[in-house]
Amino acid sequence: MSVLEDVLALADFEALARKRLPSPLFGYVSGDCEDGQSRRQNRLSFRDYELKPRVLVDVSERHQEINLFGRKYAFPFGIAPMGIAALSAYRGDLVLASAAARAQVPFIMSGWSLIPLEEVARAAPQTWFQAYLPRKQDQSAALIDRVANAGLQTLVITVDTPSPANRENNVRAGFSSPLRPSMRLAWEGVSHPRWLVSVFIRTLFKHGMPHFENWHGGRGTPMFSSTLDTDIAQRGHLTWSHVQSIRKRWPGTLVLKGVLAAEDAKLAREHGVDGIIVSNHGGRQLDGAVAPLRVLPGIVDSFGTGAVMLDGGVRRGTDVIKALALGAKCVFVGRPFNYAAAVAGEAGVAHAVDLLEREISRNMAMLGVRTANELTRDILIRSPTNREF
Ligand code: FNR
Repeated sequence: MSVLEDVLALADFEALARKRLPSPLFGYVSGDCEDGQSRRQNRLSFRDYELKPRVLVDVSERHQEINLFGRKYAFPFGIAPMGIAALSAYRGDLVLASAAARAQVPFIMSGWSLIPLEEVARAAPQTWFQAYLPRKQDQSAALIDRVANAGLQTLVITVDTPSPANRENNVRAGFSSPLRPSMRLAWEGVSHPRWLVSVFIRTLFKHGMPHFENWHGGRGTPMFSSTLDTDIAQRGHLTWSHVQSIRKRWPGTLVLKGVLAAEDAKLAREHGVDGIIVSNHGGRQLDGAVAPLRVLPGIVDSFGTGAVMLDGGVRRGTDVIKALALGAKCVFVGRPFNYAAAVAGEAGVAHAVDLLEREISRNMAMLGVRTANELTRDILIRSPTNREF
């Protein structure tokens, strides 16, 4: 019996991943920062709205296709960028990229990843690449050129990490990035033999020690190291003038991820940015940062004709529907896809896509809606109270 038979909803992946992954790694994926307020509010914010179904509409044919930056995607959701995915699953970034390509949904590869972006680009050329831009101008330019030379067309710059976050949960779980070798870490590996053999040892044997491959033009620090390249960890230097020079250098689609203020959305548009992802980094950066759904309508109004997308706490088909109804063109999902890859590799990710797609389809029928375009603010009623669940 496949482990996936018991996974009936995205949330079901978490308990399985907790068993599969060494606890520092599970702690890193599941964690947030400080008191976890933003992560909780991300989920709660979807309760701000209730749905108003229309009945007796012919919904026998429905489709969820969206058009984003001139490309068609089968469903209005994608996979958010997540660092070191190749430690959750063997060749994790490739697993996510291939599953996304097969399902025709967008996948954003993280710049904090352990597989060279060129390899992922060869396997799935439609992959989007998310960069953490280095401080040094020449390194930054080299990275942008590398992404373009690999043939990737969508560059995502994450802008909500001017400082490393206060992730106390990582310290408690014994996680750091790079990982510092220790007895505790060794014990965690040994006590999770399935992960140790099928992910870690297999990676070491076939590909050698994992390195951060996509920080700049060349290879970064090894995954196991007692020091961090401090230059890469600090990104306080990034300003709108960098966005301006990136825009000049990068020929493809440019997306900013981590925008929460309508004023910044307007500035992004003025700087020639094509799309923004309204995000608080899954509650992993500034604790107390507003839930993306709560600022989405204002940002949609400010950004004008560009594509506004959202991530953070999307777990159900109705969450996707609410975000689209408020003007998002697409939403991204993080942790559940990471767990899905950890639990069952590409089959797990495909199952996660299926679950979400089927929920959306069923809900569209019950709302009397046939296409993603028909999801408008008319289907939403503001909830009188934000009920706890
Ligand atoms: C992330 N996120 C992230 N974002 C980014 O721009 N670059 C990155 O390298 C990472 N790394 C990362 C690792 C892990 C394990 C997680 C869980 C998240 C944030 C991510 O792209 C996204 O914003 C959130 O995960 C969305 O929230 P949910 O869906 O996880 O609630």
